[in-house]
Amino acid sequence: MAIHHRTETERVLDERAAYVARGVVPASIVVARAQGARIWDVDGRSYVDFAGGIGCQNTGHGLPAVVAAVHDQVDSYLHQCFMVGTYEPYVEVCRRLAELSPCTGGEQRSVLVNSGAEAVENAVKIARCATGRPAVVVFDNAFHGRTLLTMTMTSKVVPYKQGFGPFAPEIYRVPGPYPYRGIDSDESLAALEHLFKADVDPATVACLVLETVQGEGGFIPMPADFLSRLGSLCHEHGILYVADEVQSGVGRTGPVWAVEHSGVAPDLLVSGKSLGGGLPLAGVTGAAHVVDAVPPGGLGGTFGGNPLSCAAAVAVLDEVASESFRARADALGEKVRGLGPMLALELVEDPVSKEPAGALARQAIEAARTRGLVLLSCGLYGNVLRVLVPILADESDIDEGLAILEESLVEAASGAA
Ligand SMILES: Cc1ncc(COP(=O)(O)O)c(C=O)c1O
Repeated sequence: MAIHHRTETERVLDERAAYVARGVVPASIVVARAQGARIWDVDGRSYVDFAGGIGCQNTGHGLPAVVAAVHDQVDSYLHQCFMVGTYEPYVEVCRRLAELSPCTGGEQRSVLVNSGAEAVENAVKIARCATGRPAVVVFDNAFHGRTLLTMTMTSKVVPYKQGFGPFAPEIYRVPGPYPYRGIDSDESLAALEHLFKADVDPATVACLVLETVQGEGGFIPMPADFLSRLGSLCHEHGILYVADEVQSGVGRTGPVWAVEHSGVAPDLLVSGKSLGGGLPLAGVTGAAHVVDAVPPGGLGGTFGGNPLSCAAAVAVLDEVASESFRARADALGEKVRGLGPMLALELVEDPVSKEPAGALARQAIEAARTRGLVLLSCGLYGNVLRVLVPILADESDIDEGLAILEESLVEAASGAA
């Protein structure tokens, strides 16, 4: 009789099921090691990684400069709390964020925190304080995080909002441009004008928060004309334009910030994910007269901008601001058919009805995993495959990943037919 020995993967997943809250979505790969675009699991299987821990590895796993910076920092000190002991890595990250800032208004300041959601919360706090206004405008297909304020700002009920109300007040939503689904810049701006007539006085709006490329919502890039017209509208009403670049920033689309493609200057920029090169770090950057509207003590936190994350971020920002990184990102953008390295494939049942094909996407992700590729979906219906290729990784790994992606799509489509 054959005896089934549990694999290491099965052992850890059983333990996971026994001890970890089921609300944290289950992942079936148990990781032992990662480098560049590759992950190895605890049973020795190798995968190409097109997820990067959801967009946190734009520079690939284990970039040597990042790993070396973290090792150095470990030997000096692990924690101080920046409100208790000043340390230079925090200042150096803020200096780089100032030098690289696409925002309006001269001298730039930043605050560093632990997560994208915390950074979005802080951007709203700063905007409210700077304008003395309460309201916040957000868009359909937005994802800004899972805290009370940011889940309110997020535009997807299951799994992010269902059962978690009551929600934060003074959040207003309009459709954002989604040309593939027939919503253009004109329509979205008309909806915003209508909102200002029907629902909220623009004179009470502190800020409008928008992802430059909507991430969880389906990798929807905001048209450049939309961003410039939106910027003018905000300016007209004294509303601050906050660019949430947690997923689209830090080199994901080529330039350090995706908003640079449009030439539009936001008032505040929110960064996160890849900023810490794999360690938790996020930030809010903007003009001194906006950010410093908050008096001393109004911003901060125990671990915000911790020394290890900052040491890593200095190396990450130097890398993504380099000419060689930009050239690599642009070359990668060509390889994935000109759509840039923030690529997504929206799967539909047929090109006329455009009915979202969520099941097909799930099958493709499963087929990819079996073939050795880690892939994620996104979008309101989970029907968009997002390809977060690490920009600095072996070309052969990326080619292998793209080949598996294609095979998996073919397999899923033939299964569905
Ligand atoms: C655009 C955007 N904003 C905010 C967040 C929240 O970041 P975090 O999960 O670090 O809180 C995310 C996370 O996916 C994001 O994509």
